[in-house]
Amino acid sequence: MKKILIGKTTGLKGSVKIQGGKNAVLPILAASILTEEKVKINNCPDIEDVRQTIKLLEMLGCKVFFVNGTIEVYPKDVEDTRISSEYTRNTRSSILFLGAMLGRLGRIVITKPGGCKIGERPYDLHIKGIRGLGVEIFEKYGDIVAYTDELKGGRIHLTFPSVGATENIMLAAVMAKGRTSIYNPAKEPEIVELAGFLNSMGASVKGAGKDIIVIEGTDRLHGAEYTVGGDRIVAATYMAALAVCRGKIKLLGVSPLYMEEVIKTFRNMGISIKLLPGNKGFVCKNKGEIKNISYIETSPYPMLPTDVQPIMAAVMIYGNGVSRVKEKIFENRFAYVEELKKLGADINIKGGDTLVIYGRNKLKGCQLKSMDLRGGAALVVAGLGAEGETVILDNGYIYRGYEDIIRDLKGLGADIREEEISEEEISEDGEKEER
Ligand code: EPZ
Repeated sequence: MKKILIGKTTGLKGSVKIQGGKNAVLPILAASILTEEKVKINNCPDIEDVRQTIKLLEMLGCKVFFVNGTIEVYPKDVEDTRISSEYTRNTRSSILFLGAMLGRLGRIVITKPGGCKIGERPYDLHIKGIRGLGVEIFEKYGDIVAYTDELKGGRIHLTFPSVGATENIMLAAVMAKGRTSIYNPAKEPEIVELAGFLNSMGASVKGAGKDIIVIEGTDRLHGAEYTVGGDRIVAATYMAALAVCRGKIKLLGVSPLYMEEVIKTFRNMGISIKLLPGNKGFVCKNKGEIKNISYIETSPYPMLPTDVQPIMAAVMIYGNGVSRVKEKIFENRFAYVEELKKLGADINIKGGDTLVIYGRNKLKGCQLKSMDLRGGAALVVAGLGAEGETVILDNGYIYRGYEDIIRDLKGLGADIREEEISEEEISEDGEKEER
């Protein structure tokens, strides 16, 4: 367990290179087993979810090297083995090895995935989609069992544009016999990145990011090299820090192309955002107070991403009026709200899915606890604006998605540091938790 200590910070300045996209690199790592040849992925973030996925690849028989942001996967020997909860309970994206192993071997047994507790997180759409490729798939004692003599292309209609289900179908369909059309797919940038990677391996994936994805299956893919784009949610987190602390910062290595709704929301708060040429990033400036946002809601891409909901709320508690934030994707993504209240924030959940926030200028730092990845990041943003010291007890959630939030924010002038927390301190706080 770590504790992150944050002091009120006025005025961020300087530039920061945004880490590679967590939700882009995870499906690409799963896709690496679709070939027997070497795969090289550049600009990978050194985060817990990536390290867990590398362990899973090694358990399957791959050799994996991770040096200076580049991951090399040698997937020649992939064994037909069960993927146990040791590899799935902490990382939701482990479920993508369902599609990838079907694409490689035509069969898999994998335990149900875990991940952040932000909702029930079913995977019925994954199961239905995979079944549409001629796969026998069912659940047995907490395992998902799937096998087929031959993957067959099909027409798959998603009732909800699930990111993970779209990715899982793509990972199997590229190795199916014939054509697969996915209707109502997720359009997130991570889908476009996965398609780009698969096509660099020799697949034929068209329409990623659009209303229908069409895949012509093949029986063999070759090795490839691919560079992952910057993490749009990490970029949004640091923009939120600027909104709270004021100042002027430059964010590099992330394309504003995929952040239009996020940029629009920050501009509506009064933050000035200038795009750098060649989509290399942007410069953000905030000299004044934060304008409240009367209403925002999360939706599938290209609308406002659910992952920025906690981060936007952490800014709105300092806004100059009433703001409403509606969460339309996950049913339990407000665990951080009780923590923000400890700072003195006037924030309440109405109707189960909408936050009503009365902005305040004076909040007082205290001890908080992160409950999930983006909720934890929201507490960091909120702590930067609170009087005195804010201490966040983090049980590894924040490090699942942020390579080094302390390094990045300290580099921009934030008063932030971290300390290991002793067993005694944990038991004193009655916060002892088995990971
Ligand atoms: C991905 O999760 C991301 N994770 C999430 O980011 C992100 O919040 C989410 O997409 C939405 O953009 C990764 O890419 C590893 P979904 P995923 O399937 O694939 C329901 C972060 O913080 N649903 O699009 O699990 C589901 O319950 C993480 O980086 C079904 O009903 O998201 C939810 O309400 C958090 N049945 C909605 O769809 C299914 O079979 C969106 O889920 C699948 C999903």
